[in-house]
Amino acid sequence: MIKKTRKKDILGLESMTIPDMETILTTAQEMKTIINRDIKKVPTLRGKSIVNLFLEPSTRTRTSFELAGKYLGADVVNINTASSSLTKGESLRDTLLTIEAMGVDIIVMRHAAEGAANYATQIVNSAIINAGDGAHEHPTQGLLDIFTIKQYKHKIAGLKVAIIGDILHSRVARSDIWGLNKLGAEVHVAGPQTLIPRGLEQMGVHIHNRVEDALDQADVVNVLRIQLERQKAGLFPSAREYARIFGVNAGRLALAKPDAVLMHPGPMNRGLEISPDIAYSEQSAIQEQVQNGLAVRMAVLFQVLIGGSQVETID
Ligand code: CP
Repeated sequence: MIKKTRKKDILGLESMTIPDMETILTTAQEMKTIINRDIKKVPTLRGKSIVNLFLEPSTRTRTSFELAGKYLGADVVNINTASSSLTKGESLRDTLLTIEAMGVDIIVMRHAAEGAANYATQIVNSAIINAGDGAHEHPTQGLLDIFTIKQYKHKIAGLKVAIIGDILHSRVARSDIWGLNKLGAEVHVAGPQTLIPRGLEQMGVHIHNRVEDALDQADVVNVLRIQLERQKAGLFPSAREYARIFGVNAGRLALAKPDAVLMHPGPMNRGLEISPDIAYSEQSAIQEQVQNGLAVRMAVLFQVLIGGSQVETID
């Protein structure tokens, strides 16, 4: 009988328990105090190693995971598709095994395929953090969105959260919905029918054809990026039509509560899903989301490596 220690993986908010979510949110609050110091470095994860394996583009997630690891004293290495031996034909499995052989503690992984992070947990013993797998989940984005809502509204339960746009291709929407529902929010979505996935109502959300109905008296308005790189032809008539019918602008935002918080996971298509005049308006929490992303990712790295090791017994 081999006793094997498997660190905690972060694969999605569907599988994350409420206590685990709350622990990360509480830890993130403490991490924010480190980010706001003049000297941001602490030795908490000294001697630990993290590889950011990003096989899809990213600015926010990759940079914040890198800074998060460095602020906590870990060694961090970035690998992207173009700079890896994947371009020479190496498989994902062999890439993961190669990284593990170097004694890496955490692999933060973004991949275009749903289930890629879960697959990685079956290949290597390094802890896996899902930084986005296709249209499936983006758990640290979901956690940072929840953290940001809590910062502005001091609660989650009972809030009306409107998620507007390309739900079909959005891993952010899925993680937000799983997390917000578990914590008692009422989630409303709206977008073109072609961008609302079948069976979404089974996730316990209210679906609207008209953006106006989802926005009505909302506490939080989360606008999603139209994922132009994943669109098949014909899912919406044209960018101009989309902006006219579904774009969130000042007039539509006024349908939400006067103190509603405007969010967007980024990157934004200004003038398409969100009008430029509101993107950085007083109601906007978009820059705060970015800073909170760093705090949440510090909390996630801390909890995976220090906070909660799980011991599995393997026969
Ligand atoms: N929100 C988000 O995942 O942004 P990036 O693609 O820039 O990481």
